[in-house]
Amino acid sequence: MSTLIEATKLKHSFDYELFNNVNITLESGNSMAIVGKSGSGKSTLLHILSTFAMQDSGDVFINGKNTKTISKDEIEIIRRYDLGIIFQFHHLFKGMKAIDNINIATSLSNQKLDNELFAKLEIDSNILQKTSELSGGQQQRISIARVLAKKPRIIFADEPTGNLDKETAHLVMRVLLDYVRANNAGLILVTHDEEIAFMCDEVYVLENKNLSKMEK
Ligand SMILES: Nc1ncnc2c1ncn2[C@@H]1O[C@H](COP(=O)(O)OP(=O)(O)O)[C@@H](O)[C@H]1O
Ligand SMILES: [Mg+2]
Repeated sequence: MSTLIEATKLKHSFDYELFNNVNITLESGNSMAIVGKSGSGKSTLLHILSTFAMQDSGDVFINGKNTKTISKDEIEIIRRYDLGIIFQFHHLFKGMKAIDNINIATSLSNQKLDNELFAKLEIDSNILQKTSELSGGQQQRISIARVLAKKPRIIFADEPTGNLDKETAHLVMRVLLDYVRANNAGLILVTHDEEIAFMCDEVYVLENKNLSKMEK
């Protein structure tokens, strides 16, 4: 087991203070869910942990390296090879076939395509279709396949099941959690759905400007 990500004393404000003492440790092979009311700062916290926003104070270490002090080039390499980011509103190229959207990600990170992934996500019959012909739920699963095809070490997912029906949401969670275990990777998932959250190894709630652990 090794520590994939560690955050200490994170503090951040926009118009108001969102949080002031957030501490997180994610070990390899583990998954963590963050729940909390809308506006509590969950997405902001995920952006900070994934290097896409800078906190007001406190530190984030990815693979032991402080994101505040490493170079832009190093951040770029970490983003390309180590991080997988799944947002609720996916960014696929609509004019392209689904498979070409995935090929872009794998070629950027020098990975081979794993066809089993499409079967697991039940999109194997969709990959040759144009993205714009697919339903929202199919597009969401294509975007998840695109992220997993990169073989990331740490996955950040912001409401990845938000626009999926319950059955498909559970399927997607199983694929994500299996990936984490099989690859000794890590997952930090933001969701408003406690049932989905409790599928992860640990569940935290962001409230009263702090992150606290919820007992299962
Ligand atoms: N880039 C930004 N600039 C200014 N305010 C922001 C920005 N991002 C988020 N906020 C504000 O921070 C608060 C928390 O937002 P967010 O992190 O998206 O919460 P959550 O994901 O828990 O709903 C909201 O009031 C939102 O308007
Ligand atoms: Mg949010």
